Amino acid sequence: MPISPLRWEEGELFLLDQTRLPEACVEINPRTLESVREAIRALRVRGAPAIGLCAAFGVLVGVREKAPRTVAGAVRAAHESAAFLATARPTAVNLFKSLDEMKAVADAAANERTVEAFAARMEAAALRMLDEDLAIGRAIGECGAPLIHDGDGVLTHCNAGALATGGYGTALAVVYRAHEAGTRFQVYADETRPLLQGARLTVWELAQAGIDVTLICDNMAAQIMREGRVQLAVVGADRIAANGDTANKIGTYGVALLCRAHGIPFYVAAPISTIDPATPRGDDIPIEQRAPEEITEGFGRRTAPEGVKVYNPAFDVTPAGLIAGIITERGILRPPYEASIAGALKPL
Ligand code: MRU
Repeated sequence: MPISPLRWEEGELFLLDQTRLPEACVEINPRTLESVREAIRALRVRGAPAIGLCAAFGVLVGVREKAPRTVAGAVRAAHESAAFLATARPTAVNLFKSLDEMKAVADAAANERTVEAFAARMEAAALRMLDEDLAIGRAIGECGAPLIHDGDGVLTHCNAGALATGGYGTALAVVYRAHEAGTRFQVYADETRPLLQGARLTVWELAQAGIDVTLICDNMAAQIMREGRVQLAVVGADRIAANGDTANKIGTYGVALLCRAHGIPFYVAAPISTIDPATPRGDDIPIEQRAPEEITEGFGRRTAPEGVKVYNPAFDVTPAGLIAGIITERGILRPPYEASIAGALKPL
């Protein structure tokens, strides 16, 4: 794939620093657990699946940094690293699921004879997760692409593209696959205040793929719907509760409400792993609160008076009742979601 937010090469982690996009395409090479956590926390790497993948490789970074002398010490180091990385961000369930997976691999590799053999098993597991993510993105694209027709306008919010995953996307996988299939359509990308993932990232990666994309401010969505420019909205997800309520970037709920008001289908695209059966309803999803400065002096320029009170939740929850379908690698889940989600979570 042309764009990947992260790579693992010769035992080192490289992240495309997304805070520098679109002006500069710069990689960072975090070599400590602290710097991996900082990269996730500061959104140098962001998007639910990409955060999960980064954390999986971050465990490898942590084990190496702790330089264990025994396999038992390496297992301990893996668990400690996972516990530390789990504090990076609270909402995207992919972070916790991939850390759980790495802990399980560490436990299973406890019988290895050397620390090197243990590390090789851990590395293979993280690389497999990356490969799987790419395959899942492709499958989501296959399932969702038929929803887009010639002449359609497709609205998306935030960035659920290559940059947010192993390299193909979820919501944008649908867009990429439809484009590959020769469908002619246009994407409207919400700017996505306050951190502008839509303007800085979605528009950047879609333009590189040759996809017709138009940037709008978040508060223009209602008007372009009224003008008849949007036939479909598709967004990603950070966590989907067992009843289908979906947490995604702040502003997503508003898009879903606007779609309902205009009779436009609103879709969520996400891997099955983004569904959290341990979270019964959207109200149970922890919502990350971020620094006031993201709003008052985003990107280094003060745009609000000093000392103003700020509320800055990074995500909101769209009630399942507003979602026309959840596009997964195993097909499109439809309401009632309790049943379709329970079915999708059954082991194959
Ligand atoms: O704060 P971010 O940029 O990590 O938020 C990202 C989103 O909300 C994405 O839409 C979501 O993680 C899905 S990514 C495939």
